Amino acid sequence: MSLPRLLLGVAAEPMSLDRHLDVHGGLPRVRRQDMLAELERSGLRGRGGASFPLATKLGAVVAAGRRRRPVVVVNGTEGEPMSVKDRMLLECLPHLVLDGAACVADIVGADEIVVAVDEASRQGTEAVRSALHERGDLGVRGGPSVRVLSVPGGYVSGQETAVINFINTGDPRPVMQPPRITDRGVGRRPTALSNVETLAHVALIARHGADWFRELGPRESPGSVLVTLGGGVRAPGVYEIETGSHLGSLIDAAEGLAEPVRAFLFGGYAGNWVDATRARGVRLSNGALSPLRATLGAGVIVALPASACPVAEVARVASWMADEGAGQCGPCANGLNAIADALAEVCAGAARRDAFGDIRRWAELVTARGACGHPDGTARFVTSALGVFSAEFDDHARHGLCDACERRPVLSCPRQRSAVR
Ligand SMILES: Cc1cc2nc3c(=O)[nH]c(=O)nc-3n(C[C@H](O)[C@H](O)[C@H](O)COP(=O)(O)O)c2cc1C
Ligand code: SF4
Repeated sequence: MSLPRLLLGVAAEPMSLDRHLDVHGGLPRVRRQDMLAELERSGLRGRGGASFPLATKLGAVVAAGRRRRPVVVVNGTEGEPMSVKDRMLLECLPHLVLDGAACVADIVGADEIVVAVDEASRQGTEAVRSALHERGDLGVRGGPSVRVLSVPGGYVSGQETAVINFINTGDPRPVMQPPRITDRGVGRRPTALSNVETLAHVALIARHGADWFRELGPRESPGSVLVTLGGGVRAPGVYEIETGSHLGSLIDAAEGLAEPVRAFLFGGYAGNWVDATRARGVRLSNGALSPLRATLGAGVIVALPASACPVAEVARVASWMADEGAGQCGPCANGLNAIADALAEVCAGAARRDAFGDIRRWAELVTARGACGHPDGTARFVTSALGVFSAEFDDHARHGLCDACERRPVLSCPRQRSAVR
C-alpha cells in the first residue's frame, strides 16, 4: 500500500465501524512487548509538534506503570489556527484514532483513556462518542474505560501539561514540569499523551508492521504525515504525503499556486518563515528542513502570497499569540506583549529607536523561560519573520501602513481580542 494510508477511504462523514473494518481489517492481537518493539522499530515520531519518538515515551510510561496504573490521553485539542488535520481525523476517522489509543492502552496497561477534543469541534466529539457506541468496547485486554472531554479552545490549552491540568482540575493552563506526565499526569498516574495523528499511525502499524511503515520516508523520520496546506494555493486543505517528499509535489497536489508567493511558513504560529526562493525544491522532513532552520511542527504549511503584507500578518499573529499566553509566567506576561506592541508600532510607522534590536533581544530573553514552549514558539515565528521580510519591515518602519495592509488576512486569528495594536 503506498498513499493514502491514514486517509484511505476518507469521506466528509464519519467512517462507520463496518466500513472501517472493510478498509483496514480488524486489530490483530499482539503481545504487549512485541507491539512496543514494533513501534520502536517503526521509528514513529509524534505528530503533535515536537516530533518525539513514541516508543521512548511509552517505555517511560511502562516503567512508571509498575507503581501505578497508567492512563492514556488522546490530544485532539488542535489549538493551532492554521491546522485542521486532527479535527479531520476525529470527525471522519474516529475508529482509526480509537484503535491507536486502544493499542497504546494495551502496551502501557492503562485502564482509562481520555479523549480530549477542542470544544469548538462538536462534530469531533459526536463522531468519537458515536464510534464508541458502535464498538461497545475497545476490543483490547483489560477493557479500558473511555471518557470524551471538551477542552476550552486556545493556543496553549493543547500543550500537554495544560490538557492534563484541565482533566485534573478544570483549568486549561500549562503547569511547570517536572514531574513529567509520563510519571505523574492524570490523577497523578503515569500518563501516555499523544496527538490524534500519532495514534492513527499506531493503528496502522499494529496491522501492517514496522517494515511497512518504513517503506515510505527517510530513515530518521519515516512514514507518511498529514499536512494542512493553506494560503495562496488553489486547493488548500489536508494532504497525506510521504515524509521527505518535495514541497513542489505537495503544491501540485493542491492544484498549484493561485498567485506568486513571497514566503512559506513551516510549522504554524510556533514555526519558521522561509523565503519562497530558498524553499523551492525543499523536501518536507525535519532533517531536510533543518538547514533552513525550519521544522514541519504539527504539519502546517502556509504559502504567503506576494500580494499580502507580511508585516501586518506577523504583527497581527504576534499580538494574538501574546493574548493567547496564559499570562502566568514572566516571558508571556511581559515579553510577548512587549514584542507584539513593538511590531504593531513598526507596522504603523511609529517604531521607536532600535525597535528591531529590542524585538530580537526580547525574543532571546523569553526563550526557554516559561513553563511551556509558547514564548519560544512565538519568538521563533517573529525572529524568522524579521530575517525573511527585513525589507518590508524596514519599509514599514519608515513609511507606515501600506496598501496591502488592508487586504483580507491570510493567517487567521480566531477569537482575536484586538486587531493590530
Ligand atoms: C504552546 C503549545 C501548544 C500545543 N498545542 C498542541 C495541540 O493543540 N495539539 C497537540 O497534539 N499538541 C500540542 N502541543 C504539543 C504537546 O505539548 C505534546 O507534545 C503533544 O501533544 C504530544 O503528542 P505527540 O508526541 O503525539 O506529538 C503543544 C505544545 C505547546 C508548547
Ligand atoms: S509560558 Fe506562557 S503560555 Fe506557557 S505556562 Fe507560562 S504564561 Fe502560560
